[in-house]
Amino acid sequence: MIMSDRVTVSIIKADVGSVCGHSRPHPKMMESCREVLRDGLRAGTVNDFYVTRVGDDINLFMTHNRGENSKDVHGLAWEAFKAATKLAKEMKMYAAGQDILKDAFSGNVRGMGPGSAEMEFKERGAEPLIFFMADKTEPSAYSMPLSRVFMDPYTTTGLVIDPRAHVGFKFEIVDVIDSKKIVMSAPEESYDILSLLGDTTRYAIKRIWSKHDDIGIGAVISTDKLNLTAGKYVGKDDPVAIVRCQSGLPAVGEVLQPFMFPQLVAGWMRGSHYGAWFPCSVDNSDPTFFDGPPRVCALGMMISNGKFQGCEDPVHDVGVHRPIDFFAGSEWDGARAKAMKASIYMRQHGPFMPGILGPEEMEYTTRPAVLCKLKDRMENID
Ligand code: F6R
Ligand code: MG
Ligand code: MG
Repeated sequence: MIMSDRVTVSIIKADVGSVCGHSRPHPKMMESCREVLRDGLRAGTVNDFYVTRVGDDINLFMTHNRGENSKDVHGLAWEAFKAATKLAKEMKMYAAGQDILKDAFSGNVRGMGPGSAEMEFKERGAEPLIFFMADKTEPSAYSMPLSRVFMDPYTTTGLVIDPRAHVGFKFEIVDVIDSKKIVMSAPEESYDILSLLGDTTRYAIKRIWSKHDDIGIGAVISTDKLNLTAGKYVGKDDPVAIVRCQSGLPAVGEVLQPFMFPQLVAGWMRGSHYGAWFPCSVDNSDPTFFDGPPRVCALGMMISNGKFQGCEDPVHDVGVHRPIDFFAGSEWDGARAKAMKASIYMRQHGPFMPGILGPEEMEYTTRPAVLCKLKDRMENID
């Protein structure tokens, strides 16, 4: 095949089992993924990789020159998750193999259980990326923060004062129920964009591009809706997003700022509750209160000559990447405290809306069985 001079950054992620409920993949599972990716590195399938997690989801970060939806790269990720699943089953981890929905790989992980977000670009002089990873929620959770980042001048001052950001951004929006997509342009269509995105049960951002000639892709989000890919609901997507920053795109600080507001997102506990999105470090991403609250992590790395570059110590960290874990610091304690306050408030609704989701969105329900049982006792109101 012809290798592109453009670099592709791929995150492929899956929940294939964890320790004590839906909490944290066992370190041996993570290591088995690394072993498979090391083989892929030796074989030249990928240029570089980094394996991490958020809550119970394993996230494989990879760089390569094979473009999006590469059969080889997706196949490698599939093998990594199969290896982790085998261990998870042997160790009797909880929900072992949950997101491995098919027996045989058929060219792309889409529709097979794992989620993916990939972007291809020509590497700039310096290429800072933020990798967002979420647990216990769905892709539309990113709609509010990313529309603020790429459309709201009160969030991103760059939209007003950086000439290259000032031209605005294009949004690809997907309708996850009807499998449709549309490209819209901001700032001209901002209100129309928000009219769609405000319905978080149906619409989500898939991609954002700069409208400036030389910049290209700005953000990509995984939008694989697991309930639909599995034909039945098997869990919220726990989506990932990659955001490319600086030099005409929103600055790193502009991208992080909206996460200070712990918005209510769907997917907490049994995929059936609203909870406040809790920004945290990877180490703090175990679901510790009512299987949550929903978490979001933000890892920062550069792409340098087609490979990842973090803050690794040249002596002690040979071959290991050390991203900046942006939500680890005490600056985010206030947002975390607010998220806990809002989440506890939501919990006080018990099984009542809006503590729980609307009926179409519930991952678990007894309603059809209850209605069936009551059928003969249900009477018309005069
Ligand atoms: C899973 C999740 C959890 C589970 C809950 C019940 O991602 O969010 O809240 O839905 O622990 O799990 P089961 O039905 O496996 O007992
Ligand atoms: Mg899970
Ligand atoms: Mg998860």
